Amino acid sequence: MISALSYALDLTEGQPMGHSARACILGMRIGVEIGLPLAAQAELYYSLLIKDAGCSSNASRLFQIVCGDEIRAKGDVKTTDWTRTGWESLKYAIEHVAVGKPFLERVFTLLKAASSQQQKSQELVKIRCERGASVARRMGFGEPIAQAIHSLDEHWNGAGYPDGLRGESIPIYSRIALLAQTLEVFWRSLSPGRAIEVARLRSKRWFDPALVRAVESLAKRDALWAGLDSEELLDSVTALEPVEMRVSLTEDRIDDICVAFAEVIDAKSPFTYRHSNGVAEASVSIAHALGLGASQITLVRRAALLHDIGKLSVPNSILEKPGKLDALEWDIVRRHPYYSLEILRRIPNFDRLAEVAASHHERLDGKGYFRNLNATQLDTECRIIAVADVYDALAAARPYRAALDPEIVLDIMGKDTPHALDRDCFEALASKVASVDLTTLRERLGTATPTPTTTQSETIV
Ligand SMILES: [Fe+2]
Ligand SMILES: [Fe+2]
Repeated sequence: MISALSYALDLTEGQPMGHSARACILGMRIGVEIGLPLAAQAELYYSLLIKDAGCSSNASRLFQIVCGDEIRAKGDVKTTDWTRTGWESLKYAIEHVAVGKPFLERVFTLLKAASSQQQKSQELVKIRCERGASVARRMGFGEPIAQAIHSLDEHWNGAGYPDGLRGESIPIYSRIALLAQTLEVFWRSLSPGRAIEVARLRSKRWFDPALVRAVESLAKRDALWAGLDSEELLDSVTALEPVEMRVSLTEDRIDDICVAFAEVIDAKSPFTYRHSNGVAEASVSIAHALGLGASQITLVRRAALLHDIGKLSVPNSILEKPGKLDALEWDIVRRHPYYSLEILRRIPNFDRLAEVAASHHERLDGKGYFRNLNATQLDTECRIIAVADVYDALAAARPYRAALDPEIVLDIMGKDTPHALDRDCFEALASKVASVDLTTLRERLGTATPTPTTTQSETIV
């Protein structure tokens, strides 16, 4: 479950899906090579998979700093030696800061970013590592794993962030994870040879020299890169989990992991703060009112918590755009339920949940996205989440409008009911969540003129 969810972290981190899984394989090989005991290997395993758990929390701030696509900026920072001021940092800034903006605005933003680069980098890493550690705790992991994530960006020579830890005072799991993720990025984007060269060049600066020697030894024996490009990547990662120390996945633990990932999703933008939880609460309320059974309610709740996981692929420059989105930006937004499906269907026994979660923007008249499903294809659980999602999105503030009163939200939703949104779900929501008198609501719905050619309640998330 965790290795599948790590694919969502890759999206926000500007990495192709599978980055964390491959970094996990590399890190585990290094851990075994240096003789880590079995219990420590288990902690290393989870640290590697969720190393980027805080990644979404600084997306909004990074977007404000670069005034551009922060996902692309995050992706390229992993190949940039940002601790050295010089050509490499300047090239990075030119490629990512205020791209496409008028010349003077670009120069101003670049100068502003350059003048406070160190302070801003530290701020960004601090947000990321603190949130990452907190997500790890929320998922039920102990302090060594939380600390490993907290110190991921510390460097051997003390020039890293957020605390400037030096040498062996940096947790061993963080030292391994930093090296493993750098190796993965250079292996994939350039070559195995270049990856080893970067490890050597940054040895004693970024990396623990003993770990770099272990990497060289593994590479010499052809034991470092094997199987990284396998089609069955997740199977390879699962096989690496130390069986004796395997974390048992109880129903409560699954719930904790869903809640923790909802936090990762909602941290992406201040405008979606608590959205996943809000949709979960509304969905459960509707499900109860419709008399669904306990297992269906559990499914609805978990699907609602994770429904926007694919939104981690949408840059904040789109999510936080104050004006109307252009056609290209809408295309990117409309792909997010596809990513939700792609991520969630990889989790064993989550096929049904993945389908429900990925259908939250579908509409009964077939005019939703991303698969244009229609009433015959959308079951009760899908309809519940669609209604709950619209309600929560409209009731919250957005960059282009203020939060709407429940009364207005219901009015807007009423115009899309019953041709696009399910009538029973809508009525249940209105009477339960917004405490609206059902008779009044039915009267209102009866007089509402359906507008089947437009979707009034279309929302970004
Ligand atoms: Fe949503
Ligand atoms: Fe969505």
